[in-house]
Amino acid sequence: MTKASVYVTRMIPEDNIEELRKHFAVEVNQEDRALSKEELKEKLKGKHAVISLLTDTIDSEVLDAAGPQLKIVANYAVGFNNFDLAAATERNVILTNTPGVLDESTATLTFTLLLSMARRIPEANKFLRDGKWQGWAPMFFIGLDVDKKTLGVAGLGRIGKNVARKAKGFDMKIIYTDVCRNEEFEKQVGATFVDKETLLKESDFLTLHVPLIPETHHYIGEKELKMMKKTAVLINASRGPVVDEIALVKALQEKEIWGAGLDVFEEEPRIAPGLSDLDNVVIVPHIASATMDTRLKMGAIAVDNIIKVLKGQMPVTCVNPEVLKK
Ligand SMILES: NC(=O)c1ccc[n+]([C@@H]2O[C@H](COP(=O)([O-])OP(=O)(O)OC[C@H]3O[C@@H](n4cnc5c(N)ncnc54)[C@H](O)[C@@H]3O)[C@@H](O)[C@H]2O)c1
Repeated sequence: MTKASVYVTRMIPEDNIEELRKHFAVEVNQEDRALSKEELKEKLKGKHAVISLLTDTIDSEVLDAAGPQLKIVANYAVGFNNFDLAAATERNVILTNTPGVLDESTATLTFTLLLSMARRIPEANKFLRDGKWQGWAPMFFIGLDVDKKTLGVAGLGRIGKNVARKAKGFDMKIIYTDVCRNEEFEKQVGATFVDKETLLKESDFLTLHVPLIPETHHYIGEKELKMMKKTAVLINASRGPVVDEIALVKALQEKEIWGAGLDVFEEEPRIAPGLSDLDNVVIVPHIASATMDTRLKMGAIAVDNIIKVLKGQMPVTCVNPEVLKK
């Protein structure tokens, strides 16, 4: 019997590919770059399953090019704003993501950005490497305290909660906003639910963990930045378009806020003009989940979903559950 075929749009850990090969005919994009839309359409033609990345837009055009045999597209990410959910449901294609296994690494990177910005680590590191250090000085590279400061969490989901728990180690006061309140977590960790305006006004460090959906596009823009403290730091390891990057560059240039730490950008891999010239921002290229353990676990979920669906079983992490009711 011919094996079902799976396409993997970018190299992922070999262990994950090996697992797939035990069951299916597997083709992997060997070039270390995202595929263009035309290439994606061509490569997906006739495939039964796909492991996709955030850089792959899975919409009606791509699904139609793939053909009616396509059963599942498993995103190698927890976010799935690259999926057209309705188009896939209409075509009976199951879509999955990889929640839960990257909370720790993403929250750790979030905290790394927070600490790096507070203590001006990249700037100080560059200064020393550039041979500019003349010796210890009392008013030199003055940063911000983190201990006992107020951490504001926008979106208290899996990652937001993990960041809040880490903040307890710094004795931080935790406030959060979300579309739903979590009283159990409030009791466990000592967090306080506030509205968005209070979050903006009271946070010393404001960290964003909302998904990218129409309601959260430019969740932080010019108006919100003006409401924040002049000494506040904004951290974004959610999705780039959650922040209006042009407005952020302006706010940082005009010192409306103290600084920012960014893992994600509106037009990746491009970043807004002026951003990289600023000292009061720490920028890293979307590496929040980039640890080998995390990447293996993300791959394992995607592979497991594909095995289950192609065997006619239920996937573990479906993001368009309406398709399962059909
Ligand atoms: N930088 C990275 O590499 C990286 C890695 C993992 C996840 N992410 C991003 O982080 C996001 C969060 O991941 P998660 O696993 O914690 O998701 P999650 O679904 O567990 O949590 C999201 C939270 O945001 C809340 N929310 C939704 N809309 C909101 C709104 N308008 N206002 C306030 N709160 C709102 C939800 O109720 C939920 O509690 C993902 O959607 C993904 O885009 C980025």
